[in-house]
Amino acid sequence: MELKLNLMKKLTGLKINKTAIFISGTGSNLKNLIKFSKTKKSPISINLIISDNKKAKGLKYSHQYKIPKKIFDFKANKNDDENILNFLKKKKINFICLAGFMRILSFNFIKKFNGKIINIHPSLLPKYKGLNTHERAIKNNEKFSGCTVHYVEKKLDSGKIIMQAKVKIKSKDNSFLLSKRVLKKEHELYPASILKIFS
Ligand code: GRF
Repeated sequence: MELKLNLMKKLTGLKINKTAIFISGTGSNLKNLIKFSKTKKSPISINLIISDNKKAKGLKYSHQYKIPKKIFDFKANKNDDENILNFLKKKKINFICLAGFMRILSFNFIKKFNGKIINIHPSLLPKYKGLNTHERAIKNNEKFSGCTVHYVEKKLDSGKIIMQAKVKIKSKDNSFLLSKRVLKKEHELYPASILKIFS
């Protein structure tokens, strides 16, 4: 079925980008991107799941969707980098989506994949880089929170913005409730951003 879909895409001239998704936790964005990759319009196929955490819940989707997974501990030393880069090369990966990936990639790694790594962040960047974004937005009485898909560059959460989506903060919100609504938006924004990049 999948082979047939990919063949059809090739025949219609849609280039499929072999993609690795990097996760550390639940993997709801991973699951959502896998589903998106199986649609006719998707310019990506998901060929690899990478995690720094062997206990990441999202790794179950490797089994469920029969996508290879690999654990690296991302110590960010040169040897480790080379191992990961060689592995990605072997698998012919040319695009990377970070989805709840909690490690900072080394400059060397980012340079080698220049312009081919994107991330989703749960705030309206450039506001609230880093962790606990919803808590901080609520504390500061912001009217809106949201999410951003951006290119990964050397400085954390600072690469060129691809797309953003706003979510209204309600008066009775807490970070749990807000994060649930933002996550729902993330599931729309990540595929839309990928379509935008490759259109
Ligand atoms: C998302 O909110 C994402 O924006 C952030 O980490 C969370 C990951 O959620 N970087 P999930 O693992 O995709 O469910």
